[in-house]
Amino acid sequence: MTISLTRREFAIAGGAAMLALPAAAQDAAPLARAIPSSGERLPAVGLGTAYVFNTDDTVTRQKASAVLQALIAGGGRLVDTSSVYGDAEAVLGEAIVPAGLRDKLFIATKLEAPDAAELKRSLTRLKTEKLDLLQFHNVQDPQQSLAQFKEWKAQAITRYIGITSTRHADFAAVESVLAREKPDFVQVDYSIDDREAEKRILPLAAEVEAGVLTALPFGRARLFRAVNGKDIPDWARGFAESWAQFFLKYLLGDPRVTAVIPGTADPAHMTDNIGAMRGPLPDADQRRQMVAFIEAL
Ligand SMILES: NC(=O)c1ccc[n+]([C@@H]2O[C@H](COP(=O)([O-])OP(=O)(O)OC[C@H]3O[C@@H](n4cnc5c(N)ncnc54)[C@H](OP(=O)(O)O)[C@@H]3O)[C@@H](O)[C@H]2O)c1
Repeated sequence: MTISLTRREFAIAGGAAMLALPAAAQDAAPLARAIPSSGERLPAVGLGTAYVFNTDDTVTRQKASAVLQALIAGGGRLVDTSSVYGDAEAVLGEAIVPAGLRDKLFIATKLEAPDAAELKRSLTRLKTEKLDLLQFHNVQDPQQSLAQFKEWKAQAITRYIGITSTRHADFAAVESVLAREKPDFVQVDYSIDDREAEKRILPLAAEVEAGVLTALPFGRARLFRAVNGKDIPDWARGFAESWAQFFLKYLLGDPRVTAVIPGTADPAHMTDNIGAMRGPLPDADQRRQMVAFIEAL
């Protein structure tokens, strides 16, 4: 289900967003990573939807439409949401389906429990019969079974299953469930100033061949606050045109990361973020230099 936009579709989908990309970047193929369990290639920058689409009203629906157009125009597909992100699933359903965007997107949502009623509510709100990824939200129990999620995958209600956590106190439970249940994806917090996942989750994900989605890639707004008023260093200009791209490319510089999912309600920010799928990535030495720079702030 990979999408490739022709130049014309690319322009129609978001001419304004495209203009924001430099000419060389418009020609480069966007970075995509293989989902380990299938080999399907997924564009490496997606959209997170915690907080930003909480209220289902006209303004929020318009923002969601504009952000999705910018995502698609930049070559992205992945949208990550949850049954408990306020009205986000309903806002997305309204923005996606009437505009005919369903097949251009890889929709990931999360349930609080393996509960058929909760799943039905998410499908109804997202206006879709099938999900691309269904995740168990905030795993806490090391014995958590994914049997029901596997059954829904067998029934083709979802193409992939996953687990998530952004609480380091629960990483032991994440490790247990990841090792035993071997879901297709694990989603954890990972940012240049929050690298616990590098030590614990990423090596195990590689071992069990799970794709990795990075929640909180900016630590919410924490990283932007840390560099407020500062320019990106000259040595980073070869691979990053903005602080957002600096932070996202640090994560994408690790090949175990399948995709990053920065949250935004701003289409210009989406275009900026999606720019991290183009141009060179930092190498290991540059990634160490990036960490040292951020730690010295
Ligand atoms: N346990 C879990 O499963 C879990 C927990 C947390 C998060 N998540 C997922 O991870 C996603 C990402 O986390 P998050 O949204 O909380 O935090 P985040 O992506 O680390 O940061 C979002 C913040 O960055 C700003 N931003 C985004 N792009 C920007 C840009 N180019 N320039 C300047 N500012 C920018 C956004 O504001 P604007 O709206 O103004 O752009 C927003 O304030 C969530 O949306 C959710 O899908 C999952």
